Amino acid sequence: MRKLTAVIITLVFCSISSGFSQPAFSAADMKCEYLVNPLGVDTPKPRFTWCLNDSRPGARQTAYRILVDIDSIALSTGKGSIWNTGWVKSDEQLAIFSGDELKAFTKYFWRVDVTDQRKKKSTVGKIASFETGMMNQKNWQGSWISDTEDIQLKPAPYFRKTFATTKRIKAARAYMAAAGLYELSINGQRVGNHRLDPMYTRFDRRTLYVTYDVTPQLQAGENAIGVLLGNGWYNHQSTAVWNFDKANWRNRPAFCLDLRITYEDGTTETISSGKDWKTSLSPIIFNSIYTAEHYDARLEQPGWNTANFDDSKWRSVIYRSAPSVNVVAQVMHPIRDVEEMAAQGFRQLNDSTYLFDLGRNIAGVSSITVQGAAGTIVKLKHGERLYKNGYVDMSNIDEHYRPTDNTDPFQTDIFILSGRGEETFKPRFNYKGFQYVEVTSSKPITIGKSSLRGYFMHSDVPVAGQVRSSNPVLDKIWHATNNSYLSNLFGYPTDCPQREKNGWTGDAQIAIETGLYSFEGITVYEKWLADHRDEQQPNGVLPSIVPTSGWGYEWGNGPDWTSTIAIIPWNIYLFYGDKKLLVDCYDHIKRYVDHITGISPTGLTTWGLGDWVPVKSKTPVELTSTCYYYADAVILARAAQILGKETDYEKYMALSVKIKDAFNAKYLNRETGIYGDGVQTALSVPLYWGLVPENLKSKVAANLAKRVEADNYYLDVGLLGQKAILSALSENDYAAIAYKVAAQETYPSWGWWIRNGATTLYENWNIAASRDMSLNHIMFGEIGAWLYKGIGGIKPDPAQPGFKNILLKPHFVEELSQFEASHNGPYGKIVSSWKRTADGISYTVTVPANSTATLYLPVINGLQVQLNGKTIAATTMQLQAGEFLFEWKHR
Ligand code: BGC
Repeated sequence: MRKLTAVIITLVFCSISSGFSQPAFSAADMKCEYLVNPLGVDTPKPRFTWCLNDSRPGARQTAYRILVDIDSIALSTGKGSIWNTGWVKSDEQLAIFSGDELKAFTKYFWRVDVTDQRKKKSTVGKIASFETGMMNQKNWQGSWISDTEDIQLKPAPYFRKTFATTKRIKAARAYMAAAGLYELSINGQRVGNHRLDPMYTRFDRRTLYVTYDVTPQLQAGENAIGVLLGNGWYNHQSTAVWNFDKANWRNRPAFCLDLRITYEDGTTETISSGKDWKTSLSPIIFNSIYTAEHYDARLEQPGWNTANFDDSKWRSVIYRSAPSVNVVAQVMHPIRDVEEMAAQGFRQLNDSTYLFDLGRNIAGVSSITVQGAAGTIVKLKHGERLYKNGYVDMSNIDEHYRPTDNTDPFQTDIFILSGRGEETFKPRFNYKGFQYVEVTSSKPITIGKSSLRGYFMHSDVPVAGQVRSSNPVLDKIWHATNNSYLSNLFGYPTDCPQREKNGWTGDAQIAIETGLYSFEGITVYEKWLADHRDEQQPNGVLPSIVPTSGWGYEWGNGPDWTSTIAIIPWNIYLFYGDKKLLVDCYDHIKRYVDHITGISPTGLTTWGLGDWVPVKSKTPVELTSTCYYYADAVILARAAQILGKETDYEKYMALSVKIKDAFNAKYLNRETGIYGDGVQTALSVPLYWGLVPENLKSKVAANLAKRVEADNYYLDVGLLGQKAILSALSENDYAAIAYKVAAQETYPSWGWWIRNGATTLYENWNIAASRDMSLNHIMFGEIGAWLYKGIGGIKPDPAQPGFKNILLKPHFVEELSQFEASHNGPYGKIVSSWKRTADGISYTVTVPANSTATLYLPVINGLQVQLNGKTIAATTMQLQAGEFLFEWKHR
């Protein structure tokens, strides 16, 4: 009998163990510096990340081994001559390179093997690569060159050079640095599909260069390189309140290029920018990143960037000093024409004016294809609204523009026809915010609905999240939030794509979670925080807009705006579990917090703008700004702890307690549990940022709930209150009330905008407002994040960031019959999805491989919870990787 039992046990064990050994699992989604097979990586210590492709319940990684080699074949045989980590017992899926010194211009291949919970090795996954760029400024061979014109000259310059190749080409890379913007072409073909390269930086402190694989564009024999330079933010000729035209970096655009060719025989040759290049003016007779572009097709020089072109009339170039001594790689998701769209509406307004309607508001450009006589002037005026008579109304977006004459009309491209048949114009060095395009022509043209196309442009960050619900208006709000988020992402986050295009810090700290739940934004934020570091004063002060030419150190830059320096690195840490940005910014956060402390000895600060664009009630600036000061001190203390800086940890924790005490002493009525005069912002901001004493939290939250009920479930907040209110309610047992506010469809609410046709978020709750009325602002976009957090209940766990452990706290709000939120975190796709059934509620959860979740099960009166058919009594559960079905049913 005993023997038989043993046999049975062995059989069972075998079947389980063969179950584990059979399925293939491997590392997947491999990225280097958060990009797939990037080119032009300059950091000596690139980061590697991967996911587990392993759908088995409870899948875990117990060890990893990374191999890096310049030979991909050696890699597949298990060699890693540049870096071989050996087997590292770890469940981490982020590793920082620490192998042999990386050489410039070198392609490295890497592979990562993992072991599972039974210590079985993975099947060999894909081999990924990264390629280094310059690595060192000294590796540049090219010279900075430009034409001889000065900053006032309007036409954009062309540059060209021809060269011959005699040997067989194996590979070729172009390394292109520019002050301004450029389009690079080889043998008449545009290189790459990026737009508005390089990204905007503080040019005199950091200049970006971009690497392209140009192997396919080169040919045997004669070749030509063409460069077209645009002004961008470098040579800002338009005039507006922020004085970019007076930037001390301002100059005629210039560039430096190295085209590095590797031949089959192993030799290399670099063709560089230098005195042997020639220049001429292009048909782009004016270009402004801020306003528009003007193009005279009569000035085209067909074939200008091809080898056989006669450039005898072109002029010599001059050397220019480099814009900064810090020329670094642009390693990030580029701006692209991400979506092309046809006009939805077209009508003729008079004998020379036509109106196109894209059907939705975007950031980007339009292209127009028309036919007419040479010299015909076609003007394309872009705007977000129409006057009653159908013409484009720009009064909501041109208020800060200060033109000095009428040659540079706002958001208005000018296209002068060559008369050579059908011709197309699309701006290269500008973008706008618009839904409508009003086209006027000085002479008759052939034009119709299909003549105009729209291009939605933005930093092309991969999608990382999805929300779907049974409420179509809510879904539209979510889509509009994404549209506004993306319309405001151009290598740095902006406030609006039309009126300003400024890197307003407040708008960006508000939108950070909204962005990170839905998009893989890390590369853009790492770059933008480098912009912050470039801009910070030695005393810690930051400007309210980043980058800036100097404007914004004196206005709008209190902690409610410029806490970006702390809040953004902290959120990147929470969402990615990566400390790098915290490390890079640590001293800067410290300097910043110390500065506020210096000017706020009591622990309270009045520095800031306060609850911007409120519905009606106003909350003291000191109340909201002190909450941000507190948040910064807490982030700094936590960062200190994470980075092992114990003394700082103690110091800034103590500071945070001091701030909190001073704040509560002044603003909290401990009897009533009311802050200030008890309006929505005054109650929600301290709740959200954690200043409410633990024992009074429920009282304050109850007061907030009462306040909102008394306000008939309508918002009475501005920018800062809007960030806090929904979570302040849903995290304190009032998710139902939060939902009522979020789902309102009459004024003031997000739904009111949607009801009035919005496809993006607005700057003002009041759609009839006469100012602060951009129709594409992300600053009221917290709702995008809240849908994931407050309804889907997906939150990162600060104790195990990067969704290593997921905090899952769904709220089954009554008005919804169905809701699903999913987020692609560093470990894979997290799903939190619920729907009402005849019996109760069914809730599906996906926890990605190698991560866990702490699930807080909603308690619903009269219903009991089952997991995969078995009743469970607990209210919290720790879940391993896998898919789970929970059902709430009548007892
Ligand atoms: C911008 C805002 C910004 C604000 C600062 C406005 O002009 O568009 O979004 O945060 O100024 O007060």
